[in-house]
Parts: sequence; C-alpha cells; structure tokens
Amino acid sequence: TRCFALVPAAGSGSRMGSEQPKQYLSLLGQPLIRHTLAALCASTRIERVYVVLSVGDQEWDRHDWTEFGDRLVPLFCGGASRADSVLNGLRSIADDTAESDWILVHDAARPCLAPWHIDALVRELIHDEVGGILAVPVADTLKQADGSHHIAATVPREGLWQAQTPQMFRYVMLKRALESARHVTDEASAIEAMGLRPRLVRGDPTNLKVTYPLDLHLAEWILQHREG
Ligand code: CTP
Ligand code: MG
Repeated sequence: TRCFALVPAAGSGSRMGSEQPKQYLSLLGQPLIRHTLAALCASTRIERVYVVLSVGDQEWDRHDWTEFGDRLVPLFCGGASRADSVLNGLRSIADDTAESDWILVHDAARPCLAPWHIDALVRELIHDEVGGILAVPVADTLKQADGSHHIAATVPREGLWQAQTPQMFRYVMLKRALESARHVTDEASAIEAMGLRPRLVRGDPTNLKVTYPLDLHLAEWILQHREG
C-alpha cells in the first residue's frame, strides 16, 4: 500500500499574532513550512506530499521549491477550517489516489517532525484496519473550569493523550468521515464519529505545533540541537 502526505497550510495563524501567516515565518532562516515539507519529502515511506494552501496565498510562489521536485505538489484549495482544507485537498487528489492508499495528514505548523516519528507511525499502522495518530501522554494535571474561572473538577490525566500529527487513515475512509463530520479539529475525531477506534502511537513532545510566539523559539532550539 502506498502512503501520501497531505499538509494543511491554509490557516491564518491568528494566535501567533504576526503579520504573515505562521507557516511562512522564518525558522533558522527558512520559511517554517520548508522544514515540515523537507521532513515529509525525505521519507522513503511517502510517495508524494500534497500541500493545501489558501486560495489567495500570496507567499508560496515567492519561494523556490524545486529542490523537492515532483514529490511536492501545491494545491490552492484551502477552506474556512482545517477540516475543510483537508477535505478540499482530498477531493482534489481523487484521481491520483486509490481508495486503500494511506493519507498522512500533517500540520504545516509542526516543523520538527523527525524521521523516527514517521517511521513509528507507518510501522505500527501499515497493516491496521482503521489507522491512527501520533500522540503523547498528558503531563499536567487537568482542571475543569466553571463559568467563572473556578475549578469545578479535576480530570484524572490517566489515560489522556495529546493528539499530534501525522494522522494516518485510508483515503476513502477519511474522505467519508470528513464529509459527514462537522467542526472537528482533527482527522481522528471524524473517524471516531463513525464508531471506529483509531490507534494511539506514542510520539514525543519535540513534534510540537507552533501556535504562539514562544513555540517558534522552542522549535528553533529543537531543530538546532538535532542537527548540530
Ligand atoms: N489550517 C488550514 N486551513 C484552515 C485552518 C488551519 O489548512 N482554514 C492549517 C494551518 O495552516 C496549520 C494547521 O491547519 O498548519 C493547524 O492549525 P492551527 O495550528 O490552528 O493554525 P491556524 O489556524 O493558522 O492558527 P490559529 O488557529 O491560531 O489561527
Ligand atoms: Mg486554527
């Protein structure tokens, strides 16, 4: 079975509060998204990497992507939400994929993806019925707030995991799940809504999502200390 990567990169990065969408902010002198795409394109397990950009993306064509050759395919079909972007992307690659192909959906905003993350996920799931996601066990004690910032309950963290990406599902199952799910923030929850149970594959916290300005510094540190 073949694996393809689909990278939603059509967000505006509102929580980052920067002028540019965060996927284009500089990380070690390169657009953040170049690190993400390089990690995926370098993997021999992945046939091709599709990146979903917003329809009005002004930035993509200002950069040179030729180093990735035809392994990298930009799609200007982003939607209003992450789930819409992923679904639009899936629809536009329908002719290039078979129903049983695996799709690894990976946030553009996770530039510290490492070869061992991809390898662990694919190795664990390639023969799975449903698929699954990279995730890490929750480290902090969790509090349920009432309406006025008082603690209403303490949620035992036992058995709780933080979802990461890539999230790996079969093409046709994922497309169906996203077509019937509304307002999901990841692929797994759309699959769960169909009554299925995606697998949790343990990753590690270095595969962080860049959401706030501090995360940029953390990502820079992680990449530097890996390569240096
Ligand atoms: N994404 C997308 N299309 C959207 C919204 C998000 O492709 N309509 C992508 C983002 O570009 C990002 C990934 O989904 O790579 C994860 O989303 P998130 O971290 O929430 O990014 P943004 O939505 O851009 O940031 P914010 O929520 O702070 O606005
Ligand atoms: Mg968002």
